[in-house]
Amino acid sequence: RSRYTGLIAKYHDRLPLADDVRVISLGEGNTPLIRLCNLPRQLARGVDIYVKYEGLNPTGSFKDRGMTVAVTQAVAEGCRAIVCASTGNTSASAAAYAARCGMRVFVLIPEGKIAIGKLAQAIIHGAEVLQVRGNFDAGMRIVRELAEEGPITLVNSINPYRLQGQKTAAFEIVEELERVPEFHCLPVGNAGNITAHWIGYSELALGHNDPGTQACSFCAGRCRFTCAMVRERPRMIGYQAAGAAPFLRAQMIDDPETVATAIRIGHPQSWEQAWAASRESGGWFAELTDQEILAAQRLLAEQEGVFCEPASAASVAGCLRDIQTGKIPEGSTVVCTLTGHGLKDPDIASRDASAAMRTLEADVDVVKRVILDKLS
Ligand code: F0G
Repeated sequence: RSRYTGLIAKYHDRLPLADDVRVISLGEGNTPLIRLCNLPRQLARGVDIYVKYEGLNPTGSFKDRGMTVAVTQAVAEGCRAIVCASTGNTSASAAAYAARCGMRVFVLIPEGKIAIGKLAQAIIHGAEVLQVRGNFDAGMRIVRELAEEGPITLVNSINPYRLQGQKTAAFEIVEELERVPEFHCLPVGNAGNITAHWIGYSELALGHNDPGTQACSFCAGRCRFTCAMVRERPRMIGYQAAGAAPFLRAQMIDDPETVATAIRIGHPQSWEQAWAASRESGGWFAELTDQEILAAQRLLAEQEGVFCEPASAASVAGCLRDIQTGKIPEGSTVVCTLTGHGLKDPDIASRDASAAMRTLEADVDVVKRVILDKLS
């Protein structure tokens, strides 16, 4: 088909949804895989770096991949309301998909710790926004308990339909590269997305484990993937903010802190699964300071024209460092997930706006003089 209508339409045969399900979609997925052209030349010679720009999903983050599947299933089960705890992006996505199908939505956010763009989204889509005096982990504990008791569906990533939707990012990457990258770098917060990608890559590899044939054991060769494309799986590298790095400490932490509020999480829900992805893939976890994260965000914006939110930049910050230290060797192909759009969190990016701007008289000669001066 020529018109793209969302990831459920495209990957329905690989998702645990009924054939005749009413699909709730905003056209999510199919995001650009952008090959970096300037940064590698300066900072990572000999390595091919691609960024998967998930900020171009309908609500501006990768959450839409999971939300379309979770909400589609919730509707199919006759559920009337959904709930989530969120550092911002999940709530924005849940609010949009709930609006799309006329469902009630309650979102718990940590007081004062979510980016303004994300809050605006939840509000405009009509979510009941409940600000809790506590962090994301506290909100998570509450919604888990609520969903166990009540007639309300939890749409955080412990909902298995969320990860099923998010695994499709791995499919898109392999389709586009026509092979599996050697490394896949992601920012890690609640650890759902690294888990989902590992599910996606593993599914492809398991369906194509016979190097002697081209056929997929799931669909007898009807799919777009061949054994040659997906025999391997990438090494999964998870990057955390230093103040919110339970995987680096190898234990949960109670008071996570980072400028990258999206990943300000101390008790990741997909703890075991993310460790398994890291171990089975031969990957690792690493941490970045807030300064390193913000520097990478700026570098991507200035040198590549790609604007992502701070949490997303952790993947590129970490990847560049691991290339420089040789952990990621020359000749590798690396994919970094840019999880959310830069406009989600405009405060941080525009903090130095007054320093970056000049105010002039509305006079062509004055403006011309300044421009010519800059160009000389
Ligand atoms: N990047 C962004 C922009 C996010 O919003 C999140 C998670 C992550 C990375 C980490 O992904 O949790 O799957 O490891 N945001 C959640 C939220 C927690 O509530 O929006 P993860």
